[in-house]
Amino acid sequence: VQSESIEPLHVAIIMDGNGRWATRRGLPRVAGHRAGVSAVRRVIEHAPDLGISALTLYAFSSDNWKRPAQEISGIFSLMRAYLRLETDRLKRNSVRLQVIGRRDRLPQLLLREIERTEHETAAVKRLRVRIAVDYSSRDAIAIAAGSAFSGFSAVPEPSLNVARRMLNQALTNDAGEVDLLIRTGGEKRLSDFLLWESAYAELFFTDCMWPDFGTTNLTEALEEFRRRQRRFGGVPADTTRAEQRAIGGAH
Ligand code: FPP
Repeated sequence: VQSESIEPLHVAIIMDGNGRWATRRGLPRVAGHRAGVSAVRRVIEHAPDLGISALTLYAFSSDNWKRPAQEISGIFSLMRAYLRLETDRLKRNSVRLQVIGRRDRLPQLLLREIERTEHETAAVKRLRVRIAVDYSSRDAIAIAAGSAFSGFSAVPEPSLNVARRMLNQALTNDAGEVDLLIRTGGEKRLSDFLLWESAYAELFFTDCMWPDFGTTNLTEALEEFRRRQRRFGGVPADTTRAEQRAIGGAH
């Protein structure tokens, strides 16, 4: 299916369904998150072979603070263990890992593992993986707008295009806009994930619970993506580059 000529893709995933997966098996919710980490490992491992160059995974939303403290600390422990144990494998597979979202509310020990892993994998880039933790797209846009507008004093005639370019740069931090956004677990909503970056993303929803998600599911999503015709608001022949999309005004 894939060939060298296929444009490298940025795929974003809302990894939903861990809790239900566990509950159906009579297991505590955190067991679902543990199985979810295995799915993360599988997807990262196979993504480059499927033509994916960037992967953004929604691991913990700013609204997830509403969950029981025990579940939250369970998720953070799993992340910390993943980062600690996986760095060598990430480096071997040339994966650059970064975390997006707020950092000021994360536990110190997790923060330290995040910073260490980001530092140790900074030089490699066959695949760029961004994990969204304490993430809210609206907050990210508000923060980016704050810095963009303070930079505006240097711009004689602030225009919408300049604003769009600055925000795009701040929000995508070079990972590019989202091409394909996948949500597992059966719900069909965006839940404050990558709202700006997914302006022209193709959406793929599946009933598969995240812990069951594997290479076959990812391949299926990509095959459907490649069958779709992306027009970016133009006519079929008029597919513009991602960068132009950000400043364009297509519908
Ligand atoms: C959504 O399922 C999943 C989460 C809120 C947490 C996802 C976290 C992981 C997969 C672990 C992250 C670790 C790394 C290394 C990235 P849910 O709990 O909302 O499921 P439900 O809708 O069935 O209740």
